[in-house]
Amino acid sequence: METVIDFIHTSRDRYISELTEYLAIPSISALPDHADDVGRCASWTAAALGRVGLENVRLIETAGNPVVYADWLNAPSAPTILFYGHYDVQPVDPLDQWTSPPFEATVREGEIYARGAVDDKGQIFMHVKAVEACLKKTGRLPVNMKFIIEGEEEIGSTHLDGFVRDRKEDLAADVLVISDSPMFDRGVPSLCYGLRGLAYFQIDLRGTSRDLHSGSFGGAVANPCFVLSQVLSKMKDRGGRVKIPGFYDDVRPLRDEEREAFARLPFNERQYRTDLGAPKLFGERDYTTLERVWARPTFEVNGLLSGFTGDGAKTVIPAVAMAKVSMRLVPDQQPDTVAELFETYLKKVTPNTVTLEVTRLHVGKPWMTEFDNPFVKAAGRAIDRGFGRTPVFNREGGSIPVVSTFQEVLGLPTVLFGVGLPDENAHAPNEKLNLSNFHNGIIASTFLYEEIGKLSG
Ligand code: BES
Ligand code: ZN
Repeated sequence: METVIDFIHTSRDRYISELTEYLAIPSISALPDHADDVGRCASWTAAALGRVGLENVRLIETAGNPVVYADWLNAPSAPTILFYGHYDVQPVDPLDQWTSPPFEATVREGEIYARGAVDDKGQIFMHVKAVEACLKKTGRLPVNMKFIIEGEEEIGSTHLDGFVRDRKEDLAADVLVISDSPMFDRGVPSLCYGLRGLAYFQIDLRGTSRDLHSGSFGGAVANPCFVLSQVLSKMKDRGGRVKIPGFYDDVRPLRDEEREAFARLPFNERQYRTDLGAPKLFGERDYTTLERVWARPTFEVNGLLSGFTGDGAKTVIPAVAMAKVSMRLVPDQQPDTVAELFETYLKKVTPNTVTLEVTRLHVGKPWMTEFDNPFVKAAGRAIDRGFGRTPVFNREGGSIPVVSTFQEVLGLPTVLFGVGLPDENAHAPNEKLNLSNFHNGIIASTFLYEEIGKLSG
C-alpha cells in the first residue's frame, strides 16, 4: 500500500496548483478595499480544512475578520495540538518592483513567488496537506488537532486576544504549534524559542491650517516636516541606542551562555550584509548583529509623509507631517509601559510651534520559552527526520503577539516550526517560498504529529 510519505511525493504538482489558488486571493487585512477578499479567503481556508477531513469546520465572525476553526479529536489517549496560522497578508506596494504579479503565483527556480507564499499561507497549507496525507492514507491522525486560522495577524491580531480569552475551554490543548517564521538559514532548519514584541504608533504634527507659500511665510512659522525630523532625531543616539528615558529598564540582559550559543551559529556577516545591499551594518554598540536583532529592543521609523514629493520643485511649507514609528521589544519589557514612556518623551521633545497627535496603533508582548520541554524535543526529532538535519535553536526579531496570549490564557508550551528562509521577502516585493522546504515541511509535519502522538496526552 502507498504510504503517507509516498502519497506526499506523488502529490507535489497538485500541492502547487492548490496553493496557487490560495495565493490568488488578495486577503490584505490592512486595506479596507480588500474586505471582501479577506472574507473570501476565510471561506477558502475553511473549505480547504474541510476537504482534507478535518471536522467541525467553522467560520467564526468577530468584530473584525472571521476566524477559521476546525478540529479532529478522535485520538482519545493522545495529546492535542492547537495549530495557529493567519490567512491575511501584507499590502503589496511597491507594485512595480514585483517581477511577477503578487497574486498570480509563479514558480521560478524552485521557489513559488506570491504575496503570502511564506507569510503565512504556504506554511499553513503545509500542515493542511500533512493532515490530508495522514487521514487519506491511514484514516486517522496520531494526535488530536484544533486549527485556528485568523485574518488579522498582520494588523496586530486586534480581535484574537478576546477570542482566545472567551473560548478558553474550547481551545484547551497540550501544545501550540505555529509555522510562521523563517528557519535559521538555507539548509539550517531551526526551532525558534523567542520572538520580539512590538509597540506601533502614528505621529501627526500640524503647523498651520493650510499649506503656505514658503517665500511669503518662510520665517514666520515652524515647518512641521522639519520639526518631525528634529523630533525623530531625538529618539536614538548616533550609536543606535534609544534615548527614551527608562526604555531599557526592564530589558532582560543576555546570559553569557546564550551569547555563546548565538556566536556558534553558522552566521556569515559579510554575506548577510551583501545580501541586504547595505554599505555597512548598523546597530547598538557592543552587541553582535544576531544579538541586536533577536535580543535587543529597537526604535524604527516605518514611514514618513509630508509636503511636496512629486517631480520638480514646489516652494511650499507643508501644513502637516506624519510618521509611523515602532519599537521592537524584548523580555521583560511591557508594551504598555514602553508606550507610556514613549508618549511622555514625545510630548516633551515636541515644541509648541506645532500641534501633536499620537495614536497607538498596536502593541504586542515579547515571548521567550525554555526549550527543554518534551514537545520541543519531539519537534526536533521530526525536523531531523524530515530535513535530514538536527535543528539549531534560534530567536527571531519578528513578532507574533498572540503567542504570549496563548501561553498566558491556555498555559501552553509552544513549538515554532518555521520553514521560511530569511531572504524570502516577507512584507516586501517578490515574496517567495522555497518549494523543497515546503515539501520537506509537509513530511516533517506528519513526523511532528507522530512524535507528539507518542507523548502521553
Ligand atoms: N510571520 C511574521 C512573524 C515573524 C517574522 C516571525 C519574522 C519571525 C520572524 C508575522 O506575520 C508578522 O509579520 N508579524 C508582525 C506582527 C505585527 C503586525 C504585530 C510583525 O512582526 O511585524
Ligand atoms: Zn507578516
